[in-house]
Amino acid sequence: MRFISSLFGILASTSFIGAGFTSAFAADETIRSLAEERGRFIGTILNSEWFNDNIEPEFEEIHKTQFNVVVAENEMKFDATEPKENVFNYTKGDKMIAYAQANNIRVRGHALAWHSQVPGWVNDYKGQKEKLLKVLKNHIDSVVGHWKGKVAEWDVVNEAVNDEYNAGWRSQGSVWYEGIGAEFLDSAFVWTHAIDPKAELCYNDYSLEWGMREKSKASFVVEQVKRWKKNGIPITCVGTQTHIEIAHETTPQNVRDFAKALAELGVTLNITELDIGFPKGSAGKLGAADYAKQGHLYRQFMDVFLEEPNMGEFVIWGLTDAHSWLDEQQGKTEGLLYDKQYKPKPAFDSIMVSLKSHPAAEVKTPYTFAKDTTANDTTVRDTTVTDTTAKDTSNAIAKLRGLQKFTIHLAGRTLFITGTSAKPSTVELFDMQGRPVFSAKCENGSVDLKNITEGLYVARVHAGSASYMQRAVIK
Ligand code: G3I
Repeated sequence: MRFISSLFGILASTSFIGAGFTSAFAADETIRSLAEERGRFIGTILNSEWFNDNIEPEFEEIHKTQFNVVVAENEMKFDATEPKENVFNYTKGDKMIAYAQANNIRVRGHALAWHSQVPGWVNDYKGQKEKLLKVLKNHIDSVVGHWKGKVAEWDVVNEAVNDEYNAGWRSQGSVWYEGIGAEFLDSAFVWTHAIDPKAELCYNDYSLEWGMREKSKASFVVEQVKRWKKNGIPITCVGTQTHIEIAHETTPQNVRDFAKALAELGVTLNITELDIGFPKGSAGKLGAADYAKQGHLYRQFMDVFLEEPNMGEFVIWGLTDAHSWLDEQQGKTEGLLYDKQYKPKPAFDSIMVSLKSHPAAEVKTPYTFAKDTTANDTTVRDTTVTDTTAKDTSNAIAKLRGLQKFTIHLAGRTLFITGTSAKPSTVELFDMQGRPVFSAKCENGSVDLKNITEGLYVARVHAGSASYMQRAVIK
């Protein structure tokens, strides 16, 4: 795979020489390879044209060479997956999952509860609360169940905040809010978690990059996340879509501030739909300084992404300017990393420069598994927020499930490992941001955790070639 990637890189770089844009990087360096070294995920969508086998061959080659996280542009949305009541269509989504698995790419699921791209039959139940609750639950049960273990992260709720700068939910034009009320959000998170407890669960929205002013969308979302966390609603991440324009120079710093606010709540921030468009009228008139400015903005976002430890995914809403919703629907243009001929733009180089100027050793990751050799293995992270074992500590013993090879018991402040012949074992603790807080050798079957602050952690135990992760509640 590595050889194939390198080979493609060589071919691709060769073909770019003499064209409008040239890339300054060695052929075997890709965004993907640098992202993986840093324990991060950088990706783009698969456009609807890819699903319809109506896209240039360069698209997929570049996609799987350069990126390690993928989202379906439209094919996992409600109208695509349940076009008729209780009749599900997973064909296109399955095609993407197969592609992702074949190329070891992480999958974001987009989106479960959204007011847009809802089929007509749902709107026929407008205002019928009990029926709509059943419809939404059935949709989540089926869709999340179908892709359980294959979708690492879901946009559980998309764009539920209104645009009126009055810090409130979207109360008009949303069949879910109008029929059910704000509880549809809480329910959607709980139902999704019940079906796939290992999936990360996001609230995703646009205009969050406009800062945390009073009554802004970002401030409102932070308040809701506080409430969700307090009430045990299993949210693990927020997605800032970040569809911006070349003039929006303050937005990277706003995203940094937003990430910091969410870090305090133990929640990851992902950039989920970035594009940095020029006004459509400028098409054909853009020069080197314009593309350099676009590159500078991309770089600023990548700098923020790599420097904030609770950011995990950086997703661009399209790969090539030849296929972009900006031209089709937005009156904007040329917002992506590759031009219409699939040549990398200065923005591509800017992303590479940012990655290279943040050494892997200095980049933290919110994913405890992500710098392992199993960089894309999402099965080991348990993102459960509410921990039932915590309620069972009256006898001071919490039993943590182990692999068949060994069992882990926490008794008071002592962690016991039994049933393994492979010694010594190493025990590590990570906080819920994935930061290492403790590491010790376990020479005689137990480790003393008396200096660890009370709280929720992830423990990783290595025994021989086996390693196992589980939540640990230190009381
Ligand atoms: O499915 C029909 C097809 O049958 C028909 O032949 C064709 C004719 O134009 O239209 C098809 O539907 C289009 C659909 O994309 C699939 O191609 C819709 O008209 C079109 O409105 C829809 O646009 C999508 C848009 O979401 C809808 O809200 C864009 O491709 C997609 O890029 C965009 O993505 C959204 C994210 O999901 C959420 N955040 C904003 C982002 C950009 O709008």
